[in-house]
Amino acid sequence: MKLIGPFKQIVTLRNLPLRGKLSDEQLEIIENGGILIKDEKIEEVGNFEELKSKNQISEIENIEGEQICLPAFTDSHTHICFGGNRANDFAMRNAGKTYLEIAENGGGIWSSVQHTRKASEEELLKTILERINSLISQGITTIEIKSGYGLDVENELKMLRVIQKAQTFTKATLVPTCLSAHLKPRDFEGSSQEYLQYILDEILPKVKEENLAKRIDIFIEKSAFLPEESKEFLLKAKELGFEITVHADQFTSGSSKIAVEVGAKSADHLEATIDEDIEFLAQSETVATALPGASLGLGEKFTPARKILDAGGILAIASDWNPGSAPMGNLITQASILATFEKLSTAEVLAGITFRSAFALSLEDRGTLEKGKKADFVTFKTDNFQNVLYQQGSLKADSVYINGDQFKQ
Ligand code: NIG
Ligand code: FE
Repeated sequence: MKLIGPFKQIVTLRNLPLRGKLSDEQLEIIENGGILIKDEKIEEVGNFEELKSKNQISEIENIEGEQICLPAFTDSHTHICFGGNRANDFAMRNAGKTYLEIAENGGGIWSSVQHTRKASEEELLKTILERINSLISQGITTIEIKSGYGLDVENELKMLRVIQKAQTFTKATLVPTCLSAHLKPRDFEGSSQEYLQYILDEILPKVKEENLAKRIDIFIEKSAFLPEESKEFLLKAKELGFEITVHADQFTSGSSKIAVEVGAKSADHLEATIDEDIEFLAQSETVATALPGASLGLGEKFTPARKILDAGGILAIASDWNPGSAPMGNLITQASILATFEKLSTAEVLAGITFRSAFALSLEDRGTLEKGKKADFVTFKTDNFQNVLYQQGSLKADSVYINGDQFKQ
């Protein structure tokens, strides 16, 4: 057994409820703590000296100076497999152009599709690994990654194969999601309903055959897919055995309701969710995922995270890292800014990027520091855990541990 410590503070996040509001008084903070590790899992968390004296320790990893330790983070919504960039979209938006004007001028999702289609598997693999390493260096060890910039059989499978290949090069856990229903591609001859049928007939069977993803996503929005056709599609995909997540209520309301009705694991975005639908969502098992990076990238309002928590919902916070709406890719900065605007407690933010976001991915083996959980954690050189959010991302993670081993780039 290996003992790591002593840490000035360990914030365990254990014994916190899966849903609803949290106050910082509910946080368990172990001073002068240690983490005992056995077979890549946490054996015990407690006082460092006590753990040392009462156990047969084969190895001690000493922590120098004052550091605090948190469970590693889960980013449950990203689009980090893409070619090209959309800096010009960003500049045009800030110059006052509308979404439609930008799309007509060669920007928008379709422009990322063209760049991603052009990129070789090797090129995509190289950039995805760089982005994965950037996320790991922030303390994120579980990363959901969507397809959705291929939008035909060949290119959607190419993206998902790249994500599968990336998994063989990284110790982080990658969770692939098939987002072929991101947009009807311009070169598809047929209606959006026919395109959704094409996904069901031509893409999903192959995704299953090659075991490329267990989850699917759809963008329900005026510019993408309509509520009724989306619901039908989701129910059919569910019959095929896929778990469901939805890009819901980003600009117009109504789709988070569908997400709940079809039993989605999560409904993400929710910037436009109306009060009645917040109640409905909050009473369900569907995780409500705020994506503050998209609000910051677009200059739009934030997800009503406070209302969701007060209504008893399960709130996760993810980066949505993508070339269009959320190019930043820094989860701590985004989550701490969301906290200032939505008045979230430190406990609510930390829960939202750890065990609650892991639950959105059906990964209940991580996100808290307690016996039996995956030994993924992150340390910061500071004497108080509050500094992590207070410094809004400028306090960088010091060490990241995956399965009890320190991660080295
Ligand atoms: O989550 N809203 C739809 N999809 C992405 C944006 C993708 C893009 O603009 O490339 C999002 O914000
Ligand atoms: Fe997204």
